[in-house]
Amino acid sequence: MTTAEQPPPNVAPSRPSIARIYDHWLGGKDNYAVDRREAESLEAVVPELPLIARQNRDFHRRAVGHLATAGVTQFLDLGAGLPTASNTHEIAQAANPQARVAYVDNDPVVLAHGRALLASGTNTVMVEADLRDPRAVFDHPDVTGLLDFTRPVAVLLVSVLHFVPGQEPYRIVREIRDRLVPGSHIVISHGLRTPQTTRAAAKYQAADAEVRTREQISALFNGLELIEPGLVHLTDWRPDTPAPNTEPLPFLCGVGVLGKTDQTEAT
Ligand SMILES: C[S@@+](CC[C@H](N)C(=O)[O-])C[C@H]1O[C@@H](n2cnc3c(N)ncnc32)[C@H](O)[C@@H]1O
Repeated sequence: MTTAEQPPPNVAPSRPSIARIYDHWLGGKDNYAVDRREAESLEAVVPELPLIARQNRDFHRRAVGHLATAGVTQFLDLGAGLPTASNTHEIAQAANPQARVAYVDNDPVVLAHGRALLASGTNTVMVEADLRDPRAVFDHPDVTGLLDFTRPVAVLLVSVLHFVPGQEPYRIVREIRDRLVPGSHIVISHGLRTPQTTRAAAKYQAADAEVRTREQISALFNGLELIEPGLVHLTDWRPDTPAPNTEPLPFLCGVGVLGKTDQTEAT
């Protein structure tokens, strides 16, 4: 693992990071021993976490694919994570080579790897910003240079809002919604509160984490209309493979559309 030997100068490999723990669960190599130790300690409480990560990534692939196929051409991926298989621009540009994708993350390792991956790409940018400050994201020159917010955009908040405690996610989504035109979409996946996930969230060292109830996750879509099939478990969102014959895992996802116009058929 190269990054373990040579971390970027502003990275403290003595502390676990959200992105690197998630990378470990997805089978990636951009993580350190401290991340793997944290991952194992969380798996002691919720053994399904690596499977949840894979199901989440599959939901991301299907949601972006669905929207791009339905005519969405602009994507703003907030809390994008480390590059992995089926990144947002790869899925969107497979449907429409002109699709544009702005990635945003606040982890320096994600930024370093993201920029390396995207350096040769067109119609993509990787921006360092904190999604808790939507104004800084939406007014960032690299974002405004690529995305046209007078036209519909799909904003991804996939597996990230449970790292924002309290009422903040509701303010964030509201501020994002206020910057979007009708026909825009917001894609959300989020950890569901159970006794086990609550214990894991309390144990999480890399960030403050807060799992929420179905009602609380549903309220993130206020002001939006959920497209079919609504707010569901990860494997139930427009599946393209047979559903697993197991209990659904504690994670919900959905795609909301702002207003309903003729600008996109993605309903
Ligand atoms: C669990 S990963 C999810 C990655 C990707 N969205 C996915 O679902 O495959 C969460 C990502 O959100 C990023 N993140 C967490 N808090 C953030 C914040 N306040 N601003 C920007 N990015 C953040 C982390 O660095 C990490 O890369």
